[in-house]
Amino acid sequence: MSKRKILVTSALPYANAGLHLGHMLEQIQTDVWVRFQKMRGHECYYVCADDTHGAPIMLAAEKQGITPTQLVDAVRELHLADSQGFLIGHDNYYSTNSPENKAFAEQVYKALRADDKISSRTIEQLFDPEKQMFLPDRFVKGECPKCAAKDQYGDNCEVCGATYNPTELKNPYSAVSGAKPVLKTSEHYFFRLGECADFLKGWTSGSSTRADGESQPHLQPESLNKMNEWIEGGLQDWDISRDAPYFGFEIPDAPGKYFYVWLDAPIGYMASFKHLCDSKGIDFDAWFKPDSDAEMYHFIGKDILYFHALFWPAMLHYSGLRAPTGVFAHGFLTVDGQKMSKSRGTFIQAKSYLDCGLNPEWMRYYMAAKLNGRIEDIDLNLNDFVARVNSDLVGKYVNIASRSAGFISKRFGGKLADSVADTAILHKLQAAAPELAAAFEAREYAKALRDVMALADEVNAYVDANKPWELAKQEGQDARLQEVCTVLINAFRLLTIYLKPVLPKLAEGVEAFLGVAPLAWSDADSLLLGNTINTYQHLMQRIDPALIDKLIEANKQNMQATSNAPAAAAYEPLADTIKIDDFAKVDLRIGKVLACNFVEGSDKLLQFTVDLGFEQRNIFSGIRSAYQEPEKLVGRNVVVVANLAERKMRFGVSQGMIVCASGADDNSGLFLLDVDQGAAPGMRIG
Ligand code: 2FM
Ligand code: ZN
Repeated sequence: MSKRKILVTSALPYANAGLHLGHMLEQIQTDVWVRFQKMRGHECYYVCADDTHGAPIMLAAEKQGITPTQLVDAVRELHLADSQGFLIGHDNYYSTNSPENKAFAEQVYKALRADDKISSRTIEQLFDPEKQMFLPDRFVKGECPKCAAKDQYGDNCEVCGATYNPTELKNPYSAVSGAKPVLKTSEHYFFRLGECADFLKGWTSGSSTRADGESQPHLQPESLNKMNEWIEGGLQDWDISRDAPYFGFEIPDAPGKYFYVWLDAPIGYMASFKHLCDSKGIDFDAWFKPDSDAEMYHFIGKDILYFHALFWPAMLHYSGLRAPTGVFAHGFLTVDGQKMSKSRGTFIQAKSYLDCGLNPEWMRYYMAAKLNGRIEDIDLNLNDFVARVNSDLVGKYVNIASRSAGFISKRFGGKLADSVADTAILHKLQAAAPELAAAFEAREYAKALRDVMALADEVNAYVDANKPWELAKQEGQDARLQEVCTVLINAFRLLTIYLKPVLPKLAEGVEAFLGVAPLAWSDADSLLLGNTINTYQHLMQRIDPALIDKLIEANKQNMQATSNAPAAAAYEPLADTIKIDDFAKVDLRIGKVLACNFVEGSDKLLQFTVDLGFEQRNIFSGIRSAYQEPEKLVGRNVVVVANLAERKMRFGVSQGMIVCASGADDNSGLFLLDVDQGAAPGMRIG
């Protein structure tokens, strides 16, 4: 088999929060593939990094009172711990905020400019006059120009699905300061993607020949269809610059202009690999020159195909570098059939999974058992997770060792038989290797694991047919007992080879138990006979379903922890029971804050102007202690008691009450209530 050179990446996570199980799905999919390639003896490297630039990270750091560099450095540590916790074997995990990345971003840009692929022109964009910055689309909110839904983002409406420009929003406001944005002009730089259409038509529908002679299509069929639609629809030039203030790399010869985060993000793959090359003495240029015989694959989510299947290959090609060999897109992770949800506790943080004492290999196995080479969403069904892992890994696989190892150590001093006559089952297991390899290569892990478990079923049938526990009681059956158990230990070893890309730590335990070197794929060609093995230690526990409840609870608590809630809220005694009619007397409505100011002469009150849809209200609320920056409340929704009798106060008339949560003691804080996207002013609550 010819040795291949393979560079593999997964998408660079943004450096503003910990990783969640959606990230782990992708990293597990990538890691299984990389481990498989390494077991095959190929020269394979897996690099990743944090995606550190852009306005959201700059603003998140500001909110936390730290510099963007401090934020991204701290988050990188968290991400590394999350990935390592899930046994992701990155060869390098780097950062886009690195000298290598700056150098490559400049190199690519200058090469594109020299090839006349960069243009510049003045464009008009929304600008926050208070914050003195241009607003990214996601930081402008307002009413949808199509359906008039309130509080929609500047790029698309979550209510009717329309897409538009932020300048089309009605009554726009800045999500940063609440101020009304103004239009302002600025010079921007563009990558002339429109001129790359012919190259992209060829590349997207093309394939590369691997070092082993196999043909590798650049895109999956679903991706190709999508790209064809986009190319046929006409490729727009791509705006690659952003104005200061921006956390990123300044564009050469363009003071105050920065590379848009999505320009330097994929270049981060190169930077991470270069950093690895420099530490290991690998020839970087040999891997990135246009006619390189090395393969390069990107594992990504379906939502970022446009960047990876159009911009990225074009950027590489027109700057004199090699294009990817393959872009492997996957679907999203759902939990119990639904989008991950913070309120249901199914937006599961990688760290909380590990902190709850759940074994990472359980999740690796479950996810792998559902993954295939297509772009389909993957559902984590929590009941099925428990049942499947317990039945497959513990019931079918680990049990094979636990049912045979004890006899070998107690009765034969740990020594396996020198030969076995019962070779049929073992030959069957060995003969499965090529088909299993083909499934791993094609990312058809679900098929590979189904086939492995079918083999484990056959091995268990062999156990039941040969009953080692009965042989152990019979006189004169020692040799037979040793043979049966040797067959079983060998079957277990072969199954371990096939599961090793998915269960690397468990495989390490098996290697220690068998007293063998790290298992490679080609070890399936041989058997272990006459060796002395070590005492069997239990290799994997069953999942206790109580851990799942703990996990869900932990992720619900996560939300509270991020809402500044006091650690231990004191509870007020429950009020007297009321009838539904009593409740109906209170008319609660959604209100949108149009203005909010301090009240001169009062250190407790804030004065709100609230839009109830059908009318505007003036409301005084005693929450100043908890909301010291009233302008930040402009634009948000609140819950209003709309039929409360007006109340004359020293400062004016209050026309209702804004509902707020608080604990029994004064130090427990005050918390405005929030409503989900889509709720409009005037809607009744009840
Ligand atoms: O969508 C995201 O999470 C991006 N941070 C992915 C970047 S992938 C690559 F281009 F860097
Ligand atoms: Zn809409």
